[in-house]
Amino acid sequence: MLSPRAFSSRHRALVATSIAIALLLLTFVAVKLLTRTSELAYRFVVPAWAPQPPREIAQAMSPARIELGRHLFYSPKLSVDGTMSCASCHQQRRAFTDGEVVHVGVHGEPGLRNVPSLTNLAWMPTLNWANPKLKALENQVRIPIFGENPTEMGMHGREGALFAALDADPKMMALLRSAYPAKSGFDIEALTGGLAAFVHSMTSFNSPFDRYFREHDSNAVSASALRGMKLFYTDEIGCRHCHDGLNFTDNLQSADKVKPEIGFHNTGLYNEDGKGAYPKRNPGAREITGLPRDEGRFRTPSLRNVALTAPYMHDGSIATLREVIRGHYAIAGRAAKGPHGASPLRDPHVTGFTVSDADVDDMVAFLESLTDQSLLDRPSLSDPFASGKKDHKP
Ligand code: HEC
Ligand code: HEC
Repeated sequence: MLSPRAFSSRHRALVATSIAIALLLLTFVAVKLLTRTSELAYRFVVPAWAPQPPREIAQAMSPARIELGRHLFYSPKLSVDGTMSCASCHQQRRAFTDGEVVHVGVHGEPGLRNVPSLTNLAWMPTLNWANPKLKALENQVRIPIFGENPTEMGMHGREGALFAALDADPKMMALLRSAYPAKSGFDIEALTGGLAAFVHSMTSFNSPFDRYFREHDSNAVSASALRGMKLFYTDEIGCRHCHDGLNFTDNLQSADKVKPEIGFHNTGLYNEDGKGAYPKRNPGAREITGLPRDEGRFRTPSLRNVALTAPYMHDGSIATLREVIRGHYAIAGRAAKGPHGASPLRDPHVTGFTVSDADVDDMVAFLESLTDQSLLDRPSLSDPFASGKKDHKP
């Protein structure tokens, strides 16, 4: 039989347990609600003719995460000596490239590859020039900060110091609290999630070509650009075999596509040995897959805003669009004029063609009609530290 004392202590224990369970349930519901609101908060604003990107991408975004990412993107705190931000290499006025062949890292080590533009990456199934296995932007953005091959921002092994520096910045902490209400300090998830949300928000669908072709504004492009467009889409010149669709590339993922389109090709830039070898430090997708047939294969880049992103190709080895057309594609790949002749590994669609100077001018005018001026001064993508604070400007 239970004594009254034993009963009341059991009763108290029962009440305490019930309160604890109720509290746990409440916290669970609150956390669920908070994460749900941030999950549901973002919808890509794109023209009706463009598909939505995969749902997982929008679900990881919210306006607060984009704003956190914008501050991180432009912050020199992300580099070991405070001299470099993402925007040192990815500048808005150049469609998020830098105008250099390759960019030198914080310790003076030259980069391996040309800085690519960052627009419309939400529709890009793989990231970087030649890595078919790199799919999540959250993983890509770690590379410039913590990577050592080559060293870019130099924070390898300094994760703790970086998070502490961000925690000590009241503005960053305020942004963190609204982007990730459950977190009390910076961690890798907040850092990469914020940066990925911001980069994913860099959409670009407002070029003269879009206004002409998608919105039927017949005055949007010049007669020369129209002639160039026709040449671009002919079978003989064949650019469209690889540079087609939403972003002028054969790479595309979207919410209504079960399987992404993936396009990596060898365009015959190099033939070092008569068998199609590329330079050892930049062999293309073979570096990742180990497959000999991936020698010299690179992801087809988007041609949106391409007039702003010179120099060209994965190693920045072609200075102008004229040279890309005349000195590379027209002769069936630049290697054709080297000692070993055209590359045997080049894609069958790189066949060479004859064009006049006027044709080349027209094709360049077409490529220039892919420039979206509204991207270059969109305030939501601009440097939040710019007003008068010189030390924050890259
Ligand atoms: C020192 C110059 C430099 C800095 C600083 C830099 N990047 Fe890059 N970024 C590059 C280069 C070069 C590549 C191409 C790498 C490759 O393909 O191997 C690249 C590629 C990318 C890509 C992939 C683009 C694509 O088309 O697939 C993203 C996204 C990106 N960078 C975001 C960032 C972010 C975010 C930061 C800041 C944390 C940053 N970068 C800092 C030079 C830089
Ligand atoms: C077989 C597929 C294929 C065809 C056909 C093709 N391209 Fe490319 N294009 C690529 C690939 C892949 C790259 C990147 C190659 C590299 O960096 O080594 C590229 C790069 C480019 C670049 C440089 C972009 C940058 O950001 O650096 C331009 C410009 C370009 N192509 C225009 C054209 C034009 C114009 C045509 C038609 C004359 C054409 N391409 C035909 C696949 C192709």
